[in-house]
Amino acid sequence: MYSAWRENDPFFWYEELGTWVLTRHEDCTAVLKRLDCFTSDWRRLGEGVPDELVMLQTVDPPEHPPVRRLLTAAYRACDHVALVGRTASRVTALLAGVDGRTADLVDEVALPLTVGTICDLLGVDPPDLALLRRVSPPVIDTMDAGLRPEVIPAGLAARAELDEMIERWMSDHRPGGMFAYVSQKLDALGADRRLVMNSLRSTFHAGFESSARLLSLALLAFTDNPGVLPKFTGNPESAVQEVVRYTSQVQVLARGCLTDTEVGGHKVRGGDGVTLIIGAANRDPAVFREPDSLRLGRNPNPHLGFGRGLHACLGAGVASMQARVLFTELAGYAGVRRDGEPVMWDSGTLRGVRALPVTLSRGGDPACATPTDR
Ligand code: HEM
Repeated sequence: MYSAWRENDPFFWYEELGTWVLTRHEDCTAVLKRLDCFTSDWRRLGEGVPDELVMLQTVDPPEHPPVRRLLTAAYRACDHVALVGRTASRVTALLAGVDGRTADLVDEVALPLTVGTICDLLGVDPPDLALLRRVSPPVIDTMDAGLRPEVIPAGLAARAELDEMIERWMSDHRPGGMFAYVSQKLDALGADRRLVMNSLRSTFHAGFESSARLLSLALLAFTDNPGVLPKFTGNPESAVQEVVRYTSQVQVLARGCLTDTEVGGHKVRGGDGVTLIIGAANRDPAVFREPDSLRLGRNPNPHLGFGRGLHACLGAGVASMQARVLFTELAGYAGVRRDGEPVMWDSGTLRGVRALPVTLSRGGDPACATPTDR
């Protein structure tokens, strides 16, 4: 569908949502970069935004830079070399726990790994996974609120549960993590406290959920494309970026147009919505040769999977590191075999796998051989 849109109607008006839909890489990039004309802050277009949803991703300058600077400084202040080491230990332990049997790798590897890593970065104790499994889906559903406004109340209630946790972590944290930094600097910064707290909540949520979706979609792609995973170690840095491009967990980004302008030869009026189909832009043949192939050595790879411009992903480095550590270790496994159909999340904005039964074998058990070996 995306390629049909891109080829036949790459810039169309979708009346039901009151938005333009863009599928070309060039057009999506232009919108993300043109801060004079396009906003992430729907309040500037006269729309009501609940207080809970006013956060880094949804504000423009002058509100955005101080909070972004604070979180970036907190992120950089962490010991990233030590974080890589602890992530590697976590990966080894989680994979050992499922070695030689069929397991749901989303539930038993991807989610615990990403929760462990983000909590490590934040400097807090990981919360109960059952709680996160319950509150995360309604938060994600809210990202599709344009299509399904009825999901908003449950999404706000789920955020309120996460907010309690974030508030607690402001005083209950370890030294050296992001919370230690933010709690120390927040008062001197003079930034809107609610904005910072909401941004910490979304950092925590993106930290485990967007990352888990990358890992689970990548696992699906590797079991769909036998023989690719063993090549991961050839150039892990570019391999991770290719996996982000190919799987595009963030399928859609939205912006509002502030003033009449033109993009890709199309007139866009102030007040119009603009929906960027990142999943389509990341498969645009004008930019990516053989876009539907998973080519781990792809270089250059200017994908939009982590966004672009002012709001580009703050955690791209840690998300990429974690994927690199997991798939480097998994590439050494003799067998990585899917044992059943994946169950996908039903979401327009954030794509992902809900359950993925896989049998892993570190040793050479032929029953677990990859399909190319069989
Ligand atoms: C594979 C995993 C991830 C993907 C695909 C992803 C993707 C994205 C995208 C596309 C944006 C841009 C949003 C926009 O332009 O409206 C974004 C922003 C953001 N991401 Fe991520 N993300 C991931 C992991 C993370 C992690 C691990 C963290 C935290 C450590 C994080 C924190 C953030 C924050 C705070 C923003 C807002 C930045 C701003 O508005 O200035 N993300 N992410």
